[in-house]
Amino acid sequence: MDETFDTVEVTFNEETGIGHLTLNRPDALNALSGQLQEDIVEGLRVLEAENEKRGEIALRAVVIEGAGGNFCAGADISEFSESSPGDSSERAHYNFIMDFPAPVIAKITGYCLGGGLETAMSCDFRFAAEDAKLGLPEVDLGIIPGAGGVQFISELANPAAAKEIAMTGDHISAARAAELGIVNRVPDDIDAETQDFAEKIASKPPLAIQAIKESASVATQMGLREGRQYDRRLFEPLLETEDHKEGAKAFAEDDYEPEFTGR
Ligand code: COA
Repeated sequence: MDETFDTVEVTFNEETGIGHLTLNRPDALNALSGQLQEDIVEGLRVLEAENEKRGEIALRAVVIEGAGGNFCAGADISEFSESSPGDSSERAHYNFIMDFPAPVIAKITGYCLGGGLETAMSCDFRFAAEDAKLGLPEVDLGIIPGAGGVQFISELANPAAAKEIAMTGDHISAARAAELGIVNRVPDDIDAETQDFAEKIASKPPLAIQAIKESASVATQMGLREGRQYDRRLFEPLLETEDHKEGAKAFAEDDYEPEFTGR
């Protein structure tokens, strides 16, 4: 399945279960216009629809990347006079990614600034090329990151790092971002290693993967005791799944690779 929107391209590989969503406004460094934000949501909806189409959890992971060598240079500044950057309808794609049932990996190349970095931080994982440049430059426009950039970095790294990045507006390297915990990995070969990682996650039992995503998202909202109780509620239904039985059987027999179906 391949689908092209005005500013986004979407592909789905049936064999691996991996969807790719490419931000496609390379002339504007993939700046987040209102249209691009709508297309991200529409593109993800089309990928999610593969599950209904096939009656199973066919979509196992999504990779979001930018066309033309850059991830995204943030909100489209040329649209600032038309609408407030804080307009909630325009921010829908961040929550949509965070709540998306499949894990989402941001493959970051080139510039990843402002709303681009917030988009990447809404994803479950960030893989960045060695020469990627990340930052929150909004301060130089007299505003703050409107989709929670300071909050995200406070959570992934720490509040001091968030203040340093947001108050200076400086670009930081992928290596520095990884050191702070903002980026998961800075691979030598960004394409191959992101693909390998997506395939690994895609081969795992999808109900367990969904439960882990939900658990990690509540971890930051609840205390440890309450969060562990929440995990118990996620854990128990998984014991009844075919994938659990398949994984345990493959482990015991030790002579074949388990195949997980999402049931
Ligand atoms: N919104 C709209 N257009 C943008 C953009 C943005 N956030 N970022 C880049 N562009 C456009 C530029 O206007 C330029 O268009 P043009 O060729 O029609 O003039 C094109 O993308 C290339 O950008 P340019 O500035 O020429 O590239 P550069 O390599 O000299 O600089 C950046 C790259 C990313 C450092 C610079 O473009 C920049 O600072 N962008 C703004 C980043 C920002 O403040 N984002 C947060 C917004 S809240």
